[in-house]
Amino acid sequence: MRYEITPDLLTGNHLIDSEHKQLFEAVNRLLESFSNKSEMGKNAMTTAAAFLESYVDKHFGHEEELQKKYQWREYDTHHRFHEEYKKILREIIRQIPESGPEIEDMSRLNVHVVRLITHIRTMDKRLGTFIQTQEENK
Ligand SMILES: [Fe+2]
Repeated sequence: MRYEITPDLLTGNHLIDSEHKQLFEAVNRLLESFSNKSEMGKNAMTTAAAFLESYVDKHFGHEEELQKKYQWREYDTHHRFHEEYKKILREIIRQIPESGPEIEDMSRLNVHVVRLITHIRTMDKRLGTFIQTQEENK
């Protein structure tokens, strides 16, 4: 199964939407690497995991810059979600045993991705709509 940005997950903000697509690609690459137990698979996993962590940091940073720029009233709650999300993502990745990922690791990651999907559907979409209205009223 691959994650993809379906139309209902679009926020209407070009930067946010294209970064969400990249982010899902990074998740897909990491999950794919889980099924390859060879040494090459392990290297691919380390690279994919490091990329995902840094991409999430970068993307959340961009979203928060936009929120500050437009003085979005939900900034504090949104920021708290991002911080917690990054922390748990790191924990999930750190928990993966040396011997390679177990089914539990894949399951924990999937649960965490679903949490992000819910976040996109609610907080990110509200933000996207707000930015659009601000732009239209300029
Ligand atoms: Fe967000």
